[in-house]
Amino acid sequence: MKKKIAVLPGDGIGPEVIAQSIKVLNSIARRFNHEFVYQYADVGAMAIDKTGNPLPESTLQTCMEADAVLFGAIGHPRFDNDPNAKVRPEQAILGLRKQLGLFANIRPVTTYASLAEISPLKAHITQGVDFVIYRELTGGIYFGEKKRDQDQASDLCVYSRMEIERIARLAFEAAGLRRRKLTLVDKANVLETSRLWRDTVAKLASEYPDIEMDCMFVDNAAMQLILNPGQFDVILTENMFGDILSDEASTITGSMGLLPSASVGTGNSLFEPIHGSYPQAAGQDIANPMAAILSAAMMLDHFGMHAEAKLVRDTVTEAIEEGLVTKDLNPKEFFPCSVLGDLLAAIIEGEDRNKLNPKNMIISAITII
Ligand code: IPM
Ligand code: MG
Repeated sequence: MKKKIAVLPGDGIGPEVIAQSIKVLNSIARRFNHEFVYQYADVGAMAIDKTGNPLPESTLQTCMEADAVLFGAIGHPRFDNDPNAKVRPEQAILGLRKQLGLFANIRPVTTYASLAEISPLKAHITQGVDFVIYRELTGGIYFGEKKRDQDQASDLCVYSRMEIERIARLAFEAAGLRRRKLTLVDKANVLETSRLWRDTVAKLASEYPDIEMDCMFVDNAAMQLILNPGQFDVILTENMFGDILSDEASTITGSMGLLPSASVGTGNSLFEPIHGSYPQAAGQDIANPMAAILSAAMMLDHFGMHAEAKLVRDTVTEAIEEGLVTKDLNPKEFFPCSVLGDLLAAIIEGEDRNKLNPKNMIISAITII
């Protein structure tokens, strides 16, 4: 199969982690006889520096013409610390989501037995946790009318029934392929938009009688994610709650550097790690590439390349279980980001299978470090 992929590495650690996904995709292409054509484009702070625009028209065009978009990360402290900045790197990802009609952001949260000690939660709480967040991505307070004068500001939160229904359908269908449980997270005791979510999703539930649906207030959900994350299968929620809860959920696994995401909707789909640009780590080859590599696996699934996606995921799991991890997961014995990309790509291609021996790998890594 031939696929054209728009690659937007972006800022901070974005280029480093995306480079590892590309290595893995190339090894998949060689092993399974596919052709992936990459079209690189500027986005974020680096695009502002070059063109003054965080999402240049040519980048948008590249994304629209591709079969999928692989996105790294954006953001830079010089904008974060300037509340008056008129242009911000984040406008690029918000613009892309809107322009590509990416209304659903899918964030799977998987735990790894060998990382149980790294999680801030006790092992018996995180054991076997496996859920997915369906976050609405093009509506709500992120995109409502914004107003600002000297002493007052407002952000409007608006949802239409149609916007709720289309993501809810995807979430119900996903639940049907999983453990058949869907939890709608909202703040229906306070917010009118949440009451519309509850009404719409409850009506839709009758079309999916085999799915158990419940509702949870977002403050309680934030607590339940820590107390008993194993109760969740599919979490469905609006834009801002999903942003906050998915960062919280990522810590359950031990590192934010493990969580991939897929954004799907009416146009081309986009795949990105949920972590940010982590500027403090940029250029040091210490970033965790797994989230970016697993995002590429979600892209393979999206192309219908399920065996290929599974191979990437299994290889990542195996590597993590063997202790082939970056500094965030093991500060004593860690591998550089680029070395992990090379190793994973080699394993996927079936080359040098004996490198799977953790002892050999650690020795080779130490000599490289
Ligand atoms: C995310 C990020 C973005 C968001 C930022 C970078 C605008 O935090 O993808 O979760 O808030 O959606
Ligand atoms: Mg976020």
